[in-house]
Amino acid sequence: MTAPILASTRAELAELLAEARRDGRRVGFVPTMGALHEGHASLMAVARERVGAEGKVVVSIFVNPLQFGAGEDLDRYPRTLDADLVIAEKEGVDIVFAPSVDEVYVGGQPQISIEPGPLGAILEGRTRPGHFAGMLIVVAKLFGLVRPDVAVFGQKDYQQLALIRRMVDDLSMGIEIVGAPTQREHDGLALSSRNRYLDAEQREEALHLSRALFAAQEAAASGAHAALDAARAELRRAKAVDVDYLEITATDLGELPDDVPSGTEARILVAARVGTTRLIDNMSLTIGSN
Ligand code: PAF
Repeated sequence: MTAPILASTRAELAELLAEARRDGRRVGFVPTMGALHEGHASLMAVARERVGAEGKVVVSIFVNPLQFGAGEDLDRYPRTLDADLVIAEKEGVDIVFAPSVDEVYVGGQPQISIEPGPLGAILEGRTRPGHFAGMLIVVAKLFGLVRPDVAVFGQKDYQQLALIRRMVDDLSMGIEIVGAPTQREHDGLALSSRNRYLDAEQREEALHLSRALFAAQEAAASGAHAALDAARAELRRAKAVDVDYLEITATDLGELPDDVPSGTEARILVAARVGTTRLIDNMSLTIGSN
């Protein structure tokens, strides 16, 4: 494998991409905040699949201050560029764009904002005001710098993915957005850069999240209430999990009516604190399929 080219300025990135575009290659993009793991590697593999061997896969690594609230983990968020480059190389990534904050926010904080709207006010948006506005502005900026044909995001951040799809549609950005399945450890824990904050005991506690979602999936045949009850029962077994929300929604994150027809697809989403670490997870559900 050839090592990816590391670009740390907009000018370097633009030059590399101009070359690719001159040759008519498709560009696949995976925006990340680094601290890469197998979940990110799977997104890079999807991007490669989408653009083909001739295409260019670009990964950005940027810990975006605008999407962290006061008291969140901006300062301690893991920065592991050397290890990240090894993963990018293994996945055959062509360009890694790792800019500084000043390079992204030339001229300081943008004065134009992107308002996430009602979809951004529920679930994560309730607990993390400003998070989605900060996330959308950096994704829009990165889209402007990379101008990809296709961009790949993890379903692990399900609400983020929904909001990015919405932004791309609403603002006619003309980028294909692909959602890739959540990658899990052998015992079900969803891969996340924040898992590295967990000690062994906390990791054991964190397992209650995915177990709750698996329990809900099993119980969903008996209806949404049964699914929610099964998930709650599993979370009650945890000793040190402080649940923020556990909700079943329609697949578009809208409200699920009380009487849904058997076979309706839905989503269950959970967020919780384990120690000082905030974790999220979600899974698909088929309601009342029995
Ligand atoms: O999911 C993430 O890592 C970030 O929210 C993203 C999409 C890279 C924007 O900073």
